[in-house]
Order: sequence, then C-alpha cells, then structure tokens
Amino acid sequence: MPLFYQHNIDDTTRIAVWKIEEPEAFFLEKVPVKKDVRHPYKRLQHLAGRYLFLIIFDDFPLDEIEIADTRKPFLPTEKYHFSISHCGNYAAAIGSSTDRVGVDVELETPRLYTISHKFLNPEETAFLAGWEHLTQLHLQLTTILWSCKEAVFKWYGDGGMDFRKDVWLSGPLTFRSNELIDLPFTFNKGTEQKIQMEARIFNPLVLAWIKTPA
Ligand SMILES: CC(C)(COP(=O)(O)OP(=O)(O)OC[C@H]1O[C@@H](n2cnc3c(N)ncnc32)[C@H](O)[C@@H]1OP(=O)(O)O)[C@@H](O)C(=O)NCCC(=O)NCCS
Repeated sequence: MPLFYQHNIDDTTRIAVWKIEEPEAFFLEKVPVKKDVRHPYKRLQHLAGRYLFLIIFDDFPLDEIEIADTRKPFLPTEKYHFSISHCGNYAAAIGSSTDRVGVDVELETPRLYTISHKFLNPEETAFLAGWEHLTQLHLQLTTILWSCKEAVFKWYGDGGMDFRKDVWLSGPLTFRSNELIDLPFTFNKGTEQKIQMEARIFNPLVLAWIKTPA
C-alpha cells in the first residue's frame, strides 16, 4: 500500500506521506499538470505530492493551485492552506482549512553533517552534542532540526530566511506516547513568535510540520 502514513492532526488539519511505487500514468489520471517539471523522477515526486491532497480531503481543488513568485504553491481562494515536500521515493503533504502550515520530509543521511554549521546555532549544536553517544538518534535529531527549519521556511513562504538566526529550538523536546515529538521553536523575522513544531521518526525517514492559526 503506497499510502505510508496518514494522520488527522485535528479537525481541520491533515498530513500524509506516500511511498512512490507507481508509474507517472497512475498519478496523471487524477493530478492536473500545470508546472513544467522536466526531470522524470522529480515529476513523479511532484505528482505524488499533489495526489495526496485527494486522499486527505475529498474536495481539494488541485486544478486551482497557483505558484507565487517565491515558488510557494497556494490556492487563491484559501479554501485550504497547504504545503508539500518530497525526498527520495517519498512525498508528504499537509493541508488545513484553518491554519497556515509547512511540512518537510527527509531521509536520514550522515551527509547532513557536512552542512550542519549552516543551519544550527551554537545552542542547538550543544544540545545535539548531548546525544552523540547514541549515534542513530543523534543523526535523527539533527535531521529533525533541519526538517523543522525547512518546514518553517515553507510555512513562512516569503523566502530570505537565515536558518541559524531566524528560527531556533527554544525549549526541551517532548517524546509523546503516540510516537510524535513536540519541539518548541522561536521564529523571528522582525517580531519574535513562539511556534510549536511536531515531528515523527520513521527510520530511515523523518517528517516535521508546523501549523499556526491563519
Ligand atoms: C524551497 C525549499 C524549502 C524546497 O526544499 P527541497 O528540499 O528542494 O524540496 P522539498 O521536496 O522539501 O519541497 C519542495 C516543495 O516545496 C514547495 N515550495 C517551493 N518553494 C517554496 C516556498 N518558497 N515556500 C513554500 N513552499 C515552497 C513546493 O510545493 C515544492 O514542491 P512542488 O514543486 O512539487 O510543488 C528549498 O529549496 C529552499 O530554498 N530551502 C531554503 C534553503 C536555505 O535558505 N537554506 C539556508 C540554510 S542551509
């Protein structure tokens, strides 16, 4: 079953992940193509991301999606706020009729360590150092922090974000019994704002999202 994960975050906000195993024709039966995506693999990811909205909402107007100058996709009517991510054979989508949202999905890879200095501030680096003795969890938590910041970038939508200075982990993580992790962040692009992120680890995948009242 290619639907890998589905979760109703609350009454109005839903998230899902698709594991891509189908040919392009499968998605093209239902997903209108408006954007010219040349690379076949990227086109498949693009189609799978949009396909998910037909699963999580039965009235999502896929054909009305437009792309802003920032490259953020949106619905002019704002019937739903939504966000899309893909990585490898996975696509993730979050949508909400009430909240602004952002999502990111990442495959765990130690290659992320080569760029960690570009997105972690000194406090976050020190926090992660405390987990270094647990090699896999350390990589998963590093990936989660990256994924959270990518999700915030999409939620913000205006671009021009410094991942080290504009958004940071600002409190302890809570590991919940339902396998979700709560992460308190602070976002500051002029005005400081507390934001609550959620994440889930699906070895070898990490999923992170944000939702705030629109
Ligand atoms: C836009 C960005 C987040 C996309 O990330 P990515 O890893 O290439 O790809 P993902 O699969 O996670 O997300 C792609 C989706 O994001 C969405 N997207 C693209 N630009 C967006 C934007 N400006 N705002 C919101 N969503 C955006 C699109 O839906 C896209 O999928 P689609 O083209 O199929 O519709 C990324 O390219 C980027 O610019 N990140 C910020 C980089 C940065 O500033 N880093 C500094 C620290 S190193």
